[in-house]
Amino acid sequence: MLPKINSLAGYLYEYQKSIANPEDFWDTVAQSFYWRKKWNKVLEWDFNDYYARWFVGGKLNITENIFEKNLFLLANKPAIIWEPNDPTQPHITLTYGELFEKVCQFANVLLANGIKKGDVVAIYLPMVSEAAIAMLACARVGAVHSVVFAGFSASSLSDRINDAQAKILLTADGNYRGAKAIELKKIADEALESCPSIQKSIVLQHTKSAVMMQEGRDIWWHDAISAVDTKNIAEEMDAEDPLFTLYTSGSTGKPKGVVHTTGGYMVYTAYTFKNVFQYEQDDIFWCTADVGWVTGHSYIVYAPLLCGATIVMFEGIPTYPDVDRFWAIIEKHKVTTLYTAPTAIRSLMAYGTEPVERHNLSSLRILGSVGEPINEEAWQWYYTHIGKGNCPIVDTWWQTETGGIMISPIAGITPTKPAYATLPLPGVQLMIVDSEGKELTGNNVEGNLCIKFPWPSMIRTTYGDHERCKQAYFSTYKGLYFTGDGVKRDADGYYRILGRVDDVINISGHRLGTAEVENAINSHPLVLESAVVGFPHDIKGQAIYAYVILDNAAKNNDPEKIKLSINVAVSKVIGAIAKLDKIQIVSGLPKTRSGKIMRRILRKVAEGDTSNMGDISTLLDPNVVAEIVEGAKLL
Ligand code: WTA
Repeated sequence: MLPKINSLAGYLYEYQKSIANPEDFWDTVAQSFYWRKKWNKVLEWDFNDYYARWFVGGKLNITENIFEKNLFLLANKPAIIWEPNDPTQPHITLTYGELFEKVCQFANVLLANGIKKGDVVAIYLPMVSEAAIAMLACARVGAVHSVVFAGFSASSLSDRINDAQAKILLTADGNYRGAKAIELKKIADEALESCPSIQKSIVLQHTKSAVMMQEGRDIWWHDAISAVDTKNIAEEMDAEDPLFTLYTSGSTGKPKGVVHTTGGYMVYTAYTFKNVFQYEQDDIFWCTADVGWVTGHSYIVYAPLLCGATIVMFEGIPTYPDVDRFWAIIEKHKVTTLYTAPTAIRSLMAYGTEPVERHNLSSLRILGSVGEPINEEAWQWYYTHIGKGNCPIVDTWWQTETGGIMISPIAGITPTKPAYATLPLPGVQLMIVDSEGKELTGNNVEGNLCIKFPWPSMIRTTYGDHERCKQAYFSTYKGLYFTGDGVKRDADGYYRILGRVDDVINISGHRLGTAEVENAINSHPLVLESAVVGFPHDIKGQAIYAYVILDNAAKNNDPEKIKLSINVAVSKVIGAIAKLDKIQIVSGLPKTRSGKIMRRILRKVAEGDTSNMGDISTLLDPNVVAEIVEGAKLL
């Protein structure tokens, strides 16, 4: 049984133990899993020339830890309750026994289509149980899954497929988002025009819309599964074999494939799930994230299922068919733990408490928040109106790269403070540094958040390019993993995340790099150059403000029409999440003599704070600042 902290003293004791001797600590935790062969060594690592290996020599399959290990007890327990977009349609429940059969069956489909251990399978599916089945089937046969959020565009999908040289694409005819039906297969078809590595595409029939099926390449999901057996023996994996890659944005270049391995990821995600959410057997756990993001990987699929939990998976959106949809689902399925994002809370807060009061939310025990800083007002609303003052909020800080939750209260145990992620979990050794990398010790300090010791589910590499991983995370401060976040440690030693300090914008909890958005804007034929920054947004947390220099050829066009078409271009290159909230057409950008854009100035203008621009004497042309300030007033 996984250890479970049950008091504040217990947390402090476990934390101390995990710092004093991390190897012994994780050795004990890892023993509660089923390993075909035990590890020889808990940890090997070096942060200077980055590598970290956990449970070295251990052999296992993560799906055996979900199914075979527990099936005797769990065969008839619901594993997934899938709630459709349209509430008049029935929900579907899959027990652990049924899910196991479907995973084995789809594992056999992958094998029958030539997938071998180490091959990459791209998954571009809506929020349906088949998405979880597909991920687990990959893990079963040792294939590396690369899930691409179904809201991404064709070109984002093909970039990700090509970067990892995926062999198979799993997709669906279409999906629903509230009142909209989206033709997913069409987007996938467009992507596959430039993906030579893809040999087969397996297509789930979901919306039953008419689709083009390419002879020799496309196979219907239902045909594929009807041709195979439902028994499958799991592939034996090394603890350090990759489990999945998931693309995420950083401050430079194209998104990179964060690679997680099998053993450490399993141990850490399950441990954090059980402890942070104080998991109990009869909990109904609902994480509202999409499987396309890391939260969906770790806390919809892997960790809860490793713990034998019942999860809710929801295809729709919080405001369809009405703004009480979340609360209706909680009441209907008697959800005990709700794990959602501040942006969702803020958007629902705007409708007041009446939609909440329509429902009985007394099943709720614990509330969670993830993805971006939660502002105090949203925290209070969540606590008072959703939790009715009875449910602790766990504000969980972590990243795609960390694999699992790193800083968070232990529900009901760690005293909380609105907007604070509070304290590090066992095994997490934080360090705050100033811009020179000097450690800021003691309390009441503010700086850049680093981690100085490995934890089991940490990023191992970036797919196909280890140098990039070292550069992105281990080169800013010597010997430390740099998170990219700013943080404050207050007088009580509590941590409050202040947001990104690099060129990453966090929109509704989704990361986008400024360079990536600028490249998309620059793909517009009338754009010469652009610079984007984030600015505060009531619902989304941050939104994108773009400064754009147009080509001379644009002179005779209506600027408003050009702006609209720039947004069309951006959503084609990246997807709708990258929508530019404000576009300002400028004649120049504030650049230093070495050609670097001074984003600090652009951020100030975007925030509407132009009182003190600081030193602009190093700019090539300081006059552009006045023009930008004036132009911003007209937006
Ligand atoms: C931000 C999501 C404040 C942070 C799990 C981080 C947060 C980035 C929180 C990672 C939180 C995540 N409070 N900020 N509780 N959780 N973040 O990779 O800036 O999509 O670096 O992982 O989200 O986003 P990612």
